[in-house]
Amino acid sequence: MVTGLLAGYNATVLAYGQTGSGKTHTMGTAHQPGGATEGVIPRVIAALFAGIAGLPDGDSISLRVAFIEIHREEIRDLLVGGESHVTIRDAPGHAGGVVLVGVKELEVRTVAQMAAALADGSLARATAATGMNHRSSRSHAIFTIHVERRGADSADVTRAKMHLVDLAGSERAKRTKAEGQRLKEGIQINKGLLALGNVISALGDDKRRHAGGHVPYRDSKLTRLLQDSLGGNSRTVMVACISPADANLDETLSTLKYANRARNITNKPTLNLSANASEEVAKLRRALAASRAEVEHLRASGGTASPT
Ligand SMILES: Nc1ncnc2c1ncn2[C@@H]1O[C@H](COP(=O)(O)OP(=O)(O)OP(=O)(O)O)[C@@H](O)[C@H]1O
Ligand SMILES: [Mg+2]
Repeated sequence: MVTGLLAGYNATVLAYGQTGSGKTHTMGTAHQPGGATEGVIPRVIAALFAGIAGLPDGDSISLRVAFIEIHREEIRDLLVGGESHVTIRDAPGHAGGVVLVGVKELEVRTVAQMAAALADGSLARATAATGMNHRSSRSHAIFTIHVERRGADSADVTRAKMHLVDLAGSERAKRTKAEGQRLKEGIQINKGLLALGNVISALGDDKRRHAGGHVPYRDSKLTRLLQDSLGGNSRTVMVACISPADANLDETLSTLKYANRARNITNKPTLNLSANASEEVAKLRRALAASRAEVEHLRASGGTASPT
């Protein structure tokens, strides 16, 4: 996926599962500098920089990272202290794509800078102790890496992004012993996950998909943001985290069913290539020259050029 990212393909990794099953552990969103465990994100960072080091001389890469969380249906920017005002909009001229407006995109050049962004954001994340996990994530966290690559001998620019998503856990209030604020949070978390489940069901159901059925992306911020990752322009992997304890059998079964439905989703990853501006200008110049020649020709032959 990292190789694809450098070549211009979007990618997404999602961790899903019951609370306490190891999503944050898997993704590495509790990553602390010098921490003993290496989750998916630190490994992606290492692989990305190794990939960049192996690119042909003269290729230039620019990297930006963003780190947000969705907490009680509000988007918070984890790289900005205090209040942030982030909204989701449809990306102009790109069917199905969305952009985040007002989010901080930090330019990074080294492994250390990218890891620092991950660590800083992770610390800012909303966590709380529940009856089932003493550092339970109370939000969905999305770490996004934007890659822009310019080739030395081709005028093309490829732009791609990778979303690394640590979802909040599905939970049953009875078992987490959540009350008050925690319980309200739990209800919001379950709502977001339900919306995600509905999108996965709609996309994973062959009959509904062939009938051009409605996919309820707009039911939650999470599904809106992941629109491209689910059934869209992205290579996507979902990790299902489950618990080995027999007390969790029901939740384990439901996670596996969820994952099984997700397996049916077909994405359509396409190369995100944008022609270089100078090439665009050259093309327009050629078109202008051709029109001028046509006007000259018409004048010379006594006709009138149609107004353009
Ligand atoms: N594979 C593993 N090996 C060792 N420890 C693990 C593993 N998976 C999870 N843990 C530990 O179990 C605890 C709970 O894991 P984690 O916080 O990742 O769960 P979670 O799925 O993110 O839960 P929540 O939905 O509540 O956020 C943590 O202390 C974590 O370090
Ligand atoms: Mg977690």
